[in-house]
Amino acid sequence: MAEYAIEIEHLVKRFDNLTAVNDVSLNIRRGEIFGLLGPNGAGKSTTLNMVLGLLSPTSGRVLVNGTDMHTNPYAARNEMGIVTQETVVEPELTAEQNLMIFGRLYHIPEPELRKNIDFALGLADLTSFRNAYAGTFSGGMKRRLETAKSLMHAPSVILLDEPTTGLDIQNRTKIWDLLRDINKNQNVTILLTTQYLEEADQLCDRIGIIDHGRLIALGTPTELRQKIGMNSVIEISADREVLQKVADVFRKIGLEPKILTNKVVAPAGSAATKKIEMLIKELSARKVQIHNISMHEPTIDDVFLKLTGSEVRDTTGDYVGGRAGFMMGRVR
Ligand SMILES: Nc1ncnc2c1ncn2[C@@H]1O[C@H](COP(=O)(O)OP(=O)(O)OP(=O)(O)O)[C@@H](O)[C@H]1O
Ligand SMILES: [Mg+2]
Repeated sequence: MAEYAIEIEHLVKRFDNLTAVNDVSLNIRRGEIFGLLGPNGAGKSTTLNMVLGLLSPTSGRVLVNGTDMHTNPYAARNEMGIVTQETVVEPELTAEQNLMIFGRLYHIPEPELRKNIDFALGLADLTSFRNAYAGTFSGGMKRRLETAKSLMHAPSVILLDEPTTGLDIQNRTKIWDLLRDINKNQNVTILLTTQYLEEADQLCDRIGIIDHGRLIALGTPTELRQKIGMNSVIEISADREVLQKVADVFRKIGLEPKILTNKVVAPAGSAATKKIEMLIKELSARKVQIHNISMHEPTIDDVFLKLTGSEVRDTTGDYVGGRAGFMMGRVR
């Protein structure tokens, strides 16, 4: 058996002048939950679609369980289950019928198909909705049904493109539980993409951060935080007009601040508490009004900020950095 579930070697995809995926190399270990984290347009779907063989790479290679996707696409695809970014359940069919059609496409023999449907419905917590039309389902239920569908042919790897985008926290948590269950109890390797920092942090064993088609960081959530060499992050929120003055105070005490929409943040070493005291003293001497001063352990968005110099925003453009559970997007 191949060492890795998925091997991605120097993958490149160009669309005319745009290089959507730029020399990405990545190995997904058997049995792990791997998250490809990046803002809108980073190249997540393009990468995933090449892994799935739905899009041919400009150059580079993908191996699934050691099988080359290019030379042996059917064998490679058979190893994988897929949940695409767009929801593709059939609204006019019941949950059971959705699964049945999908299973038949894979030529699963009837007795096994029935068994798989029961099992998948149970996993997705949809057994009591077996005969309900998928069109009546909530977003979270549709996502769970799709995940169940991806498991019908008992793949060893499933790939999910933003499985929880747009779902509320309750539904998101339910999908996480489902994915953990599939991963731990069915030994299914999971490769997912996400814009949610918290999802990458809490669900994934390892994270690859992708930005402008390039893989800019790779490691466990803890490794990523350690790699950027921050023990803690100090942040001060204040009115926009005074942010520059706040940043000056950070510099005065030897820190390197970044000014964001409504706050200034700076990585601090182990002496962060002392630094906070110095900041408060200096700010009050200069009569600079602030709203809040706090210190936190570095989060994945601090890692992103440090690596790209870009602020993290959600899709509505409000600043959300420094707290987990929000979406990332690039300041344009
Ligand atoms: N078929 C295509 N033709 C031309 N450009 C494309 C095509 N597909 C994607 N792109 C471009 O490639 C870049 C990467 O797109 P991709 O869909 O992979 O990003 P993403 O990370 O999945 O973003 P999102 O979070 O919005 O889904 C974007 O700039 C996108 O506009
Ligand atoms: Mg996408």
